Amino acid sequence: MNTIIKKADKDSISEAVALLQNGEIVAIPTETVYGLAANALNPAAIEKIFTAKGRPRDNPLIVHVTDLEMARGLGLEIPPLAEELAERFWTGADFPVGLPDQRGSLTMILKKINHTIPTTESPLQEVSCGLDTVAVRVPNHAVALEIIKLCELPLAAPSANISGSPSPTKAEHVFADLSGKIPLIIDGGACEIGLESTVIAFEEREQDSPAIRILRPGAVTAEDLSEFADIKIDKSVIMKTGGTSPPRSPGTAYKHYAPKAQVIAVTAENKNAFVQYVAKNAADGAAKLDFCETEEPRLLFTKLRELDELGVKRIFVRLPKPEGIGLAVCNRLIRAADYNVIQI
Ligand code: TXA
Ligand code: MG
Repeated sequence: MNTIIKKADKDSISEAVALLQNGEIVAIPTETVYGLAANALNPAAIEKIFTAKGRPRDNPLIVHVTDLEMARGLGLEIPPLAEELAERFWTGADFPVGLPDQRGSLTMILKKINHTIPTTESPLQEVSCGLDTVAVRVPNHAVALEIIKLCELPLAAPSANISGSPSPTKAEHVFADLSGKIPLIIDGGACEIGLESTVIAFEEREQDSPAIRILRPGAVTAEDLSEFADIKIDKSVIMKTGGTSPPRSPGTAYKHYAPKAQVIAVTAENKNAFVQYVAKNAADGAAKLDFCETEEPRLLFTKLRELDELGVKRIFVRLPKPEGIGLAVCNRLIRAADYNVIQI
């Protein structure tokens, strides 16, 4: 299959919409990372996503909608807390998009209302991998919203990379991973946030007020969410899980975000300590990235991909403090380093 990259405009958006309505898969820009989109209600289209990405079949997809009403229309339970969060963090189709705030990058895990009906009859069976919940978000990106609106369909969209590699933040990254496997990439330029959305689940507590569990940290931070409820950060965010209990979010169980180079994650009190450690331990072909002081979170995946292209074999990364967006950066880097963190 020939893969074409087209700048986002009226014509390319119409083409994407026609393909999506016909059960095809198309890569589209969002404010977080590029997504590989398909009609969320079409099992055959969803199947194409799993095949193109080489994604494990038990790792469910995020469904993208234009607003809360569209999520409700999918037959999902919307607790009052989810309504409040949607009002604050989801743009809605009529919201002026592209604002420099954090609206959009929050994914909520919501319960299917009819999860007792035979799962094979649920139109969301494939995207959710048969779970009784569905992950939903409203992207804060004019092109993504326009495409969903014109399709009049909810769009499933995981990051548009080969499973396990760094997420794509530019159209060229998608091309590098998926060329020959998808017909069209809509180029909307570099992603503003550059890290995948924050994924949260709601904890039901008998007498108490509800709590929010962060399954994947992102640009909507624990601090932002703490205005609305108690926050729990899932163990899997910074520790290897596995063993007996199944993970709350299947994606957290897989090795992820890893470039071809070996990533060595380091926490260091100050810049000098980091520089000295790298000088002592790096052989030829090693690079260093200081996410505590100099590197920008939005360029994390871009940098990892650039270093791969240069043929760098080892990348020493200094972790930021695990607060604010720093928690998301730590999560991606620790996982890329397969959970080995060196403290100096
Ligand atoms: O920013 C983003 O979220 C991007 C853009 C394209 O929207 N998408 C993205 O999708 O990062 P993906 O598939 O790469 O990551 C989705 C994560 C996975 O860790 C998956 O396991 C989790 O969300 N997830 C999806 N549905 C779930 C569910 N019902 N319950 C728990 N976790 C779920
Ligand atoms: Mg992904």
